[in-house]
Amino acid sequence: MKILALIGSPRIGSNTDILLDWVLQGAQSSGHATEKIYLYDYQISPCLDCRRCKKDDFTCHLLDGMSEIYPRLEEADLIVFGTPVYWYGPTAKMKLLIDRMRPFIASGKLKGKRGVVVTPSEEGESCGGPLMEMFRMSFEYLRMTYAGSILVKAYERGEVRDNKEDLKRAYELGASL
Ligand SMILES: Cc1cc2nc3c(=O)[nH]c(=O)nc-3n(C[C@H](O)[C@H](O)[C@H](O)COP(=O)(O)O)c2cc1C
Repeated sequence: MKILALIGSPRIGSNTDILLDWVLQGAQSSGHATEKIYLYDYQISPCLDCRRCKKDDFTCHLLDGMSEIYPRLEEADLIVFGTPVYWYGPTAKMKLLIDRMRPFIASGKLKGKRGVVVTPSEEGESCGGPLMEMFRMSFEYLRMTYAGSILVKAYERGEVRDNKEDLKRAYELGASL
């Protein structure tokens, strides 16, 4: 299986990145191929609701970093959405990507793929409700299957490294995919 991990944190090597690495190492131990994308490396423009993706070839006509990300989303069997909680939702960069997934509603190209959510936050699991609800409902709308999540309490840069239990949970989630 091909696993694509999206990092929606601007902090490279910090909590989201570390947790995703453990998920991906677990996945590799089960023989899966993995790829990681840092969303902050790409220019992603906001969806303009032009609705061109609803007709013809069902593609987005904006020309930016998504041209490189779209084919990778289509090739993946499972997509891991990694984002810290920012104001009880995902980061703005992750939200830009989610908005730009609109072509997949008409094309159905994500149908049957699995989705995982990995999320650190200062408050931990108790504040993840709205974010998880958004992902679960979006997966359903895209006809994807929700395949698990890791919500972890971590605030300082790289703090999650000290919590071996959470890292183990991330690894085990990856290994079980
Ligand atoms: C703009 C902003 C908003 C945030 N909002 C929340 C929040 O609503 N709830 C929370 O628990 N933590 C919040 N945090 C804390 C981050 O989720 C936390 O520091 C996380 O570990 C960052 O992950 P990273 O190290 O991968 O960047 C916020 C941080 C920032 C910068």
